[in-house]
Amino acid sequence: MGFEIIGTGRAIPPKRVTNDELAKTLDTNDEWIRSHTGIEARHLVDERTSCSDLAAESARNALAMAIEQGTCVEKTVEELALTVDMVIVGSSSGDYFCCPATACIVQDMLGAKNAGAMDIVNACSSFIYALETGAGLLSVNKGRRRALIIGADVLSRFVDWSDRSTCVLFGDGAGAVLLEKTDTQSGVLRAILGADGSGAEDLIMRKGGSRDPFKKGDAFAVPPHIEMNGRAVYVFAVNAIAETITKLLDAEHLTIEDIALIVPHQANARIVQAAAKRLALPEEKFFLNIAEYANTSSASIPIALDELNRSGRLRKGDHILCVAFGAGLTYGGALIRW
Ligand SMILES: CC(C)(COP(=O)(O)OP(=O)(O)OC[C@H]1O[C@@H](n2cnc3c(N)ncnc32)[C@H](O)[C@@H]1OP(=O)(O)O)[C@@H](O)C(=O)NCCC(=O)NCCS
Repeated sequence: MGFEIIGTGRAIPPKRVTNDELAKTLDTNDEWIRSHTGIEARHLVDERTSCSDLAAESARNALAMAIEQGTCVEKTVEELALTVDMVIVGSSSGDYFCCPATACIVQDMLGAKNAGAMDIVNACSSFIYALETGAGLLSVNKGRRRALIIGADVLSRFVDWSDRSTCVLFGDGAGAVLLEKTDTQSGVLRAILGADGSGAEDLIMRKGGSRDPFKKGDAFAVPPHIEMNGRAVYVFAVNAIAETITKLLDAEHLTIEDIALIVPHQANARIVQAAAKRLALPEEKFFLNIAEYANTSSASIPIALDELNRSGRLRKGDHILCVAFGAGLTYGGALIRW
């Protein structure tokens, strides 16, 4: 049994904000941001757009690609949406605070009437967790064949725009893949999922959950936002990338020469460079598009996959290794035979 990606899509908000534009209202500058992160710009949603809007747009684009490329027999996006058995949205910035799941909104927007819907809330690792969950749900039930796996985040709504050490890092976006159960040995070959909850405080949004709920009369100088211990996350991320790659290769009896491209979570180019050095790999082995989008959290890996796919850089049979890390602290990796 295989779990092939038969379509990819992305949704990027049109509003592009450069480092220089941020520096107009924040004590920062283009040189610091570029040299410390590799980020040159980010795309941010307008006031009317929320997580489900981006998620649904990326999913429609993935469905449209499957039709255009003839990887399915259906002829319209609407017809194909009806064949989807699961809609899974990986996100930490869903439309509603507690319920309903954003995936339910997306399922309705797509007209995917025959699909179950659920969210995976696991910060920047959400997409890899969602991919493995999707493959698992397809494998345990003969009746399920297709799952839409979406990573979507609008963290611009949850950063403190006066805190230069966090707000410059993030951007908004969504990416989606249409996963199909097949009888081939290609697609998602193996995934690793991991966590170290002792680092929960290192990347956290404290307010609003059951530990510290919103109360009548609450007033905020700054709306509830993400707090981060940048150094601790950096160290965790470099280790997570290096160890996940090594474990996936060992488990599949492959060497790095068998891998066409590594698609890391796009949090900071320096994290990727440090991991490459640790593994004694050339940096070119890693795909980076952080310069344009910044850290889009759950969306960064599926956006990258879609960019690579649409530009023809992924050839059939290529081994692609995706690796993510994020709040939790969590990490995950997936080995895909394209
Ligand atoms: C956030 C991060 C880029 C900070 O880089 P760093 O080299 O550790 O920088 P520091 O936090 O030590 O700050 C160094 C200085 O730069 C300043 N600084 C921080 N952000 C700045 C900004 N946007 N512009 C200008 N100066 C800034 C700090 O105030 C500090 O100044 P000081 O020395 O006068 O106190 C880095 O720690 C990182 O990338 N961590 C991982 C974060 C991440 O990826 N999170 C998401 C994971 S999914």
